[in-house]
Amino acid sequence: MTALLEVSRLVKRFGGISAVNDLSFEVNQGESLGLIGPNGAGKTTVFSLIMGEHRQNSGTVTLAGEDLSADPTYLRIQKGVSRTYQVPRPFADINVAENIRVGLMPNSIRRMISEGPDPDAELALARSVGFAAADLEKTPGELSMGDLRKLELARTLATAPKVMLLDEVFAGLTVGEITQISDLLAEKRKEGMTYVIVSHDLRSLEPLIDRAVAMTFGHVIAEGTFREVMDNEKVRAAYLGH
Ligand SMILES: Nc1ncnc2c1ncn2[C@@H]1O[C@H](COP(=O)(O)OP(=O)(O)OP(=O)(O)O)[C@@H](O)[C@H]1O
Ligand SMILES: [Mg+2]
Repeated sequence: MTALLEVSRLVKRFGGISAVNDLSFEVNQGESLGLIGPNGAGKTTVFSLIMGEHRQNSGTVTLAGEDLSADPTYLRIQKGVSRTYQVPRPFADINVAENIRVGLMPNSIRRMISEGPDPDAELALARSVGFAAADLEKTPGELSMGDLRKLELARTLATAPKVMLLDEVFAGLTVGEITQISDLLAEKRKEGMTYVIVSHDLRSLEPLIDRAVAMTFGHVIAEGTFREVMDNEKVRAAYLGH
């Protein structure tokens, strides 16, 4: 079976630091993978490499067998990878509905050519991540962290991805907000969405993943079920710092 997303022998150096160092993993169709590791392990950099936001020094990224490694970001998004940001990155001057519309843009251009514009698409997406109608007019500055993370998810879903890369979707949230986002991801998982999720909140992560990959210093140190990975000696040492 061909993996849906395959990261192979990726290397990324920033000056003297090897943020990602000969890293490989794959994600199958419909699978949810947890990518864990201590601060600075290289998790976010892996996402940036998959999206083409940073260029790798070596190694490859393939999606459904197609090599994306040289593609610019917009093309990778068109081909089916999409990410959220650890620090939410909405357009600050426009409201929630307009932010989602920007995410929908490439799709809507395609659809407008074939079927005409779809004014309901942004509303449907906003609803699907749990926004109320009254939230649509708010600007990002008026949103709670939970709502900002919902907006990140809506913008990521807007590109109709084959694989979603979710970076710290629970960070800075209240317990209630964590439940909302968890429920949403559980739903996406049930619908067959493939995703890679990075989270320091291991308790929230566990029920949302089929498999885990642990990394430190840019390198995979353990792979398996959540339990197997958490029981791994190297992982324990990495988290305890000795
Ligand atoms: N643009 C950059 N320029 C220079 N160094 C960078 C850059 N981005 C990341 N790094 C370095 O690369 C290493 C990996 O960083 P990265 O942000 O990928 O880790 P992370 O696992 O996502 O950490 P965290 O859990 O804190 O989010 C760190 O040492 C970081 O300082
Ligand atoms: Mg990070």
